[in-house]
Amino acid sequence: MIYNTIHVGTGTPYDVVIGTNILAGAGGMIAENMRGKRAVIVADSNVAPLYAHRLKSSLADAGIEAAEFVFPAGEESKTLETFGRLVEYLAKEKLTRTDFLCALGGGVTGDLVGYAAASYLRGIDFVQIPTSLLAAVDSSVGGKCGVDLAAGKNLCGAFYQPRLVLFDADVLQTLPECEFACGMAEVIKYGVIRDAGFFAELEAARGALSGQALLRAVSRCVEIKADVVSRDEREGGLRRILNFGHTAAHAIEKLSGYSAHHGEAVAVGMVLAARYAERGGVTAGAADRIAALVHDFGLPASVSECAAMHSLDAAAFAPDAMAEVAASDKKRAGDAVTLILPKEIGEVTEQKLPVSRLTEFFE
Ligand code: GLY
Repeated sequence: MIYNTIHVGTGTPYDVVIGTNILAGAGGMIAENMRGKRAVIVADSNVAPLYAHRLKSSLADAGIEAAEFVFPAGEESKTLETFGRLVEYLAKEKLTRTDFLCALGGGVTGDLVGYAAASYLRGIDFVQIPTSLLAAVDSSVGGKCGVDLAAGKNLCGAFYQPRLVLFDADVLQTLPECEFACGMAEVIKYGVIRDAGFFAELEAARGALSGQALLRAVSRCVEIKADVVSRDEREGGLRRILNFGHTAAHAIEKLSGYSAHHGEAVAVGMVLAARYAERGGVTAGAADRIAALVHDFGLPASVSECAAMHSLDAAAFAPDAMAEVAASDKKRAGDAVTLILPKEIGEVTEQKLPVSRLTEFFE
């Protein structure tokens, strides 16, 4: 059942199809949108045994022959090494320019496959089939892709749009609870940056979102993201609002040795940004509402809660340590970091903070 189809008006435009029981008919939808009759399905070692077979037979029914590339699950796989193995595999399979890739999985898979699609033969088509909430509402849409470097996450990558995104909400049934919660951090983000009514709906859900309400929520997030990236595909301005909560999040992830999950770190990062905005008189009341909502969905609202969840020493996240990491963030421009701060729930503003004063943000 297709719940909604959202058009993304980027330079290479495409549709995001959201619904249930989508995987069974994926082959037909893909065949309608792609030129080639050969594909490689890329999935990690958790997702491949669950869904790759279903996708492969659906593609076969639509006359598309697909090979499979499976890599070990986890952020540790988002490396140049895995990227190298993948593109060598594509060459070994003799994929041509009209063939395509299917990214079947969460954010790591989508980012890796997007970058391989952008690079192999200087660019081939790819389809995003997100299997996590976070990938459905964020990373599968908008074309950011890439791999991590030793110096930090996502430091090597590209903007490269998929040709089609297919989200089957049924796959969330096999998603671990903590990963669902992590996706909710990004869902909440959309409410804060663009839609106060949506934020209020999430508050009313009291930490339980499923069925039609979940489809509606995913749909609203994708509508917001599609609108933002259509106006600013390469993050020259407006798209930066999607980074709300991420300045602190990247520092938390790095200082935790990547044991804190991205969504948990974003949850804390949103509250920290809102508290800083309140100290500076930019807003009032947003921080407590965001903190209550992230708690509703089982997410941490402070660095100490996040540290406790992972049995880490909260002292590792001292403001000066966080500032040092944030100062080397790839989004830094010159001597300042651009902060995204809530003016109220549903609207954010940008503020530049000199790197020399970054500690204040984390206090
Ligand atoms: N995840 C933020 C963006 O796609 O811009």
